[in-house]
Amino acid sequence: MRIVLVGPPGAGKGTQAVRLAEKLGVPHISTGDLFRFNISRQTELGKLAKSYMDAGNLVPDEVTIAMAKDRMEQPDAKNGFLLDGFPRNVSQAQALDELLQSKGIKLDAVLDLEVPEEEVVKRIAGRRICRNDSSHVFHVTYSGSKKEGVCDVCDGELYQRDDDSEDTVRKRLEVYHTQTEPIIDYYKAQGLVVTIPALGPVEEITKRALEALKREK
Ligand code: AP5
Ligand code: ZN
Repeated sequence: MRIVLVGPPGAGKGTQAVRLAEKLGVPHISTGDLFRFNISRQTELGKLAKSYMDAGNLVPDEVTIAMAKDRMEQPDAKNGFLLDGFPRNVSQAQALDELLQSKGIKLDAVLDLEVPEEEVVKRIAGRRICRNDSSHVFHVTYSGSKKEGVCDVCDGELYQRDDDSEDTVRKRLEVYHTQTEPIIDYYKAQGLVVTIPALGPVEEITKRALEALKREK
């Protein structure tokens, strides 16, 4: 299956993507994680991306699309993928359509995670992620690690993302509303959008998403 996950910052895209990708047997492709990996390696791409991310802005389309395309063309993504954080504006969505069309393939669904803004702010404020792998995600009150400050998966150090400060979160929400939300209408016109209420226990939301995908098949 080829799926896109959308939703505001902190909606739980990464949390759900890890679980859904495992259940569906497709790779989880997160452009945010790819940028953070490049930042931790101090690559040129990482240095460029960091300046935009720390300000809460989108990284320019040219580099983002090239990076996402390269990842989608890896052998493990041949039979499907779950995109998390890409596309993030209409021109990225158009670029994705062109790429898929050139290969004669299509998206199966766009899952829109619906979470009220005040909950999103709480989720981001308490989020802690692992230095070794930013897909290892915890929350200080909702889903703490067994040992404070230490990742349950790999014993890595947990830290708060630089872009999770209050000011940057406000900017990321504004960017979401102005630049990312329009892709929901773009995909609605293609009949691909499934809205998933994303309040409640993590496992419950995964179940809702899997059931919705079954209906889409
Ligand atoms: P990215 O990393 O994609 O960030 P985001 O979209 O802002 O989303 P988040 O990672 O903040 O949240 P999430 O929805 O994954 O939530 P999570 O599962 O962690 O992008 C970061 C930056 O990179 C962008 O601002 C931009 O600069 C750049 N970028 C990335 N892609 C780009 C693109 N395509 N184009 C241009 N620039 C791009 O959950 C949040 C917290 O809530 C966690 O602590 C979690 O434990 C907790 N939680 C999750 N689910 C629940 C639940 N059901 N109940 C209680 N708590 C929960
Ligand atoms: Zn870890």
